[in-house]
Amino acid sequence: MSFATLWESLLPIGRDGLSGGYRRFSWTPEDAACRAWFTQAAAERDLRVRTDNNGNLWAWWDRPGLVPGPGLPGGSKAVVTGSHLDSVPDGGAFDGPLGVVSAFAAVDLLRERGCLPVRPLGIAAFSEEEGARFGIACLGSRLLAGVIDPGAARALADAAGVTLAEAMAAAGHDPDGIGPDDGLLAAIGAYVELHVEQGRALADLGAAVAIGEQIWPHGRWRLDFTGRPDHAGTATLADRRDPMLPFAVLAARQAAAVHGARATVGKVTAEPGAVNAVSARVSAWLDARGPDERTLQAVVGEVLAAAREAAAGHGVELAAGPESVTPAVMFDPGLRERLASSLAAQGIQAPVLPTGAGHDAGVLAARVPTAMLFVRNPTGVSHSPAEHAEPADCAAGVRALATVLEDLACR
Ligand code: GLV
Ligand code: MN
Ligand code: MN
Repeated sequence: MSFATLWESLLPIGRDGLSGGYRRFSWTPEDAACRAWFTQAAAERDLRVRTDNNGNLWAWWDRPGLVPGPGLPGGSKAVVTGSHLDSVPDGGAFDGPLGVVSAFAAVDLLRERGCLPVRPLGIAAFSEEEGARFGIACLGSRLLAGVIDPGAARALADAAGVTLAEAMAAAGHDPDGIGPDDGLLAAIGAYVELHVEQGRALADLGAAVAIGEQIWPHGRWRLDFTGRPDHAGTATLADRRDPMLPFAVLAARQAAAVHGARATVGKVTAEPGAVNAVSARVSAWLDARGPDERTLQAVVGEVLAAAREAAAGHGVELAAGPESVTPAVMFDPGLRERLASSLAAQGIQAPVLPTGAGHDAGVLAARVPTAMLFVRNPTGVSHSPAEHAEPADCAAGVRALATVLEDLACR
């Protein structure tokens, strides 16, 4: 099995020498290097590579008469696995890449086992899953599934003001073609995404792999506070309209604790950003997640109310609204059962876990029967250079994925 070789060939791409974390942002040179890596891994396996209109990568194990689309024998549809290659700023090595590397390694293992797919088997790497450059998580799969307007997506801008359309064009991808691809989705019968666990439930349960049950509803809200720029040494406290004060980070923590949810202010920008001045504008992004929609709404409502009250108290204006919201996702129960029984038949014990992390599988679940496998993360730490999975658990993940794909695609 080629997991280690593949893994090591991807590791240097986009790694920051100081933090040890990854900066693989969409449509950058690092992203291009990840795409080249994917293309080479596919070519080494005689898989047919194509980039879809939205910039998502696909590697197909198919053959004449067995190409994804209408007209397959018995109306059967393709089986797809994969994940993403982009990262959050200083993200870990595993979040996303583990699913893509494991997919290629699972193809190798299927071939070692002599399995020949009777339906097309695809490996996908979705673009801009983290939303780290353009702000919308799962942008590639959202565009594919038609849950974001292509015009609005083209106009999304990164921190330097470069739009998605400009970034795509600069990387050689035509931005005019982005948007839903119902034909591609209709050709897929099942999507199974393997992902490093982003919590430590498996470590506590003593199991190497789990089956995903559901994804908490979650979203991102942007809060823009506008105050009055002023001198840090001379403006009296009473005269200030300081937008740095009301951004509600403590209210977020409190609301999450009260409701058994999660709320994080992980990004704040201040303009113009002088040490010796009261800021003109502060933007803060709230990431909130909860076990159900009502809880999520309660948390967000409380944070926004606290921010509004504090802004009014400091003479600051507030504009707030959602950037992306993803409803609760329950993975396809039939597919989940099928994963459980094929793993059990191989003696693989896999508990069923919910997650508070977002995934392309959660977006695709609205259109395609979808399931997830999680691989144990000993500390649970994720979105951090410290994210980790042991080699033995990665190998267990590949075996589990191959077992599932064999059942879905080779029988
Ligand atoms: C993606 O990893 C997310 O949950 O934000
Ligand atoms: Mn992530
Ligand atoms: Mn991920």
